[in-house]
Amino acid sequence: MSMPVHTAIESAIAALRATFGSRFEGADTEQSLRDEKAKILGKKGELTAILKQMGAAPPETRRVIGELANVLKGEVEAAFEQRLAAIGRREREAELNATPFDLTLPGRALARAGHAHPISIARDEIVEVLESLGFAVHDGPEVELEENNFTKLGFPPDHPATDMQDSFWTTDGTVLRTHTSNIQVRAMTTHKPPFGFIAPGVVYRRDDDATHSPMFHQVECFLVDEHVTLSHLKGVLAEFADRFFGAGTPIRLRPSYFPFVEPGAEVDVGCPFCRRADGSRTGCGVCKRTGWIEILGCGMIHPVVFEHCGIDPERWTGFAFGMGVERVAVVRYGIPDMRLLFENDPRFLAQF
Ligand code: DAH
Repeated sequence: MSMPVHTAIESAIAALRATFGSRFEGADTEQSLRDEKAKILGKKGELTAILKQMGAAPPETRRVIGELANVLKGEVEAAFEQRLAAIGRREREAELNATPFDLTLPGRALARAGHAHPISIARDEIVEVLESLGFAVHDGPEVELEENNFTKLGFPPDHPATDMQDSFWTTDGTVLRTHTSNIQVRAMTTHKPPFGFIAPGVVYRRDDDATHSPMFHQVECFLVDEHVTLSHLKGVLAEFADRFFGAGTPIRLRPSYFPFVEPGAEVDVGCPFCRRADGSRTGCGVCKRTGWIEILGCGMIHPVVFEHCGIDPERWTGFAFGMGVERVAVVRYGIPDMRLLFENDPRFLAQF
């Protein structure tokens, strides 16, 4: 004989009530817990299926069944929330106990490595070429005594370069060096000839326009020995041009004046921007249609400089030159506008 419907419903509810707890305990993740709950309370769930049989139960039993169903629902909901919280806690604990994320690990994406600025690249290459010719690097300060920057180099006290307009003076009569020629004085007063030095460094002038920056770079080079002549100077410059700008790069010396050399000259190299295959140049905007670009000043060290530095000018002679690193970089790398070197636009810098 089969069980009356309402008794069957009640025992089904009781069976569900006895088992849902362990079913929830068996769910390890939030998703499986939600799935389990839906299987019990969802529209197509087990309790719904049980209650569908209610229509066949005697009306006086329905209230009791309804109450049983409500109690079960409440218990299922409460147990669900409890289990959900437990799962959340366990996940957080697992996170906390996991090996900590190592912030020092290298990234997976390949980061673009930086590199030296083109001014530094040019400076280093200049230094490398001159070192290969036998010159040693000499260092010196950027804040310099007036004496070393001007006076001992033969600048008269009223020379326009010493003017407030042209130089950055400090309050105590020192000056931001206006050129690396100060190293000539420093080397000559501390070393006995023969010697050959180069001095790369930063220099400052009160200049700021399309072709001048208030801060720029120079490399000084000088050689003092017995019987040093203009030919030695020219030979070193030609060799430098060959090694730095490429074999066969033409140079020319134009007479010019600097207080610390006699004779003095400015040196041009053949313009690379309008150079034809045979080495001749058509002339262009960069070289102002001349086919030549000036890169440095040079000359034979003035006897007065030797005297100021305690070196006998009857015995010793020497040459010196000082080149602008930015100018040389522009020529070497074919940079159409010197200002690009100071703007630090990554699209420009990435090309070096
Ligand atoms: N000091 C000069 C300048 O800043 C450049 C220069 C000229 C350096 C002649 C020298 C030299 O050594 O002999 O413009």
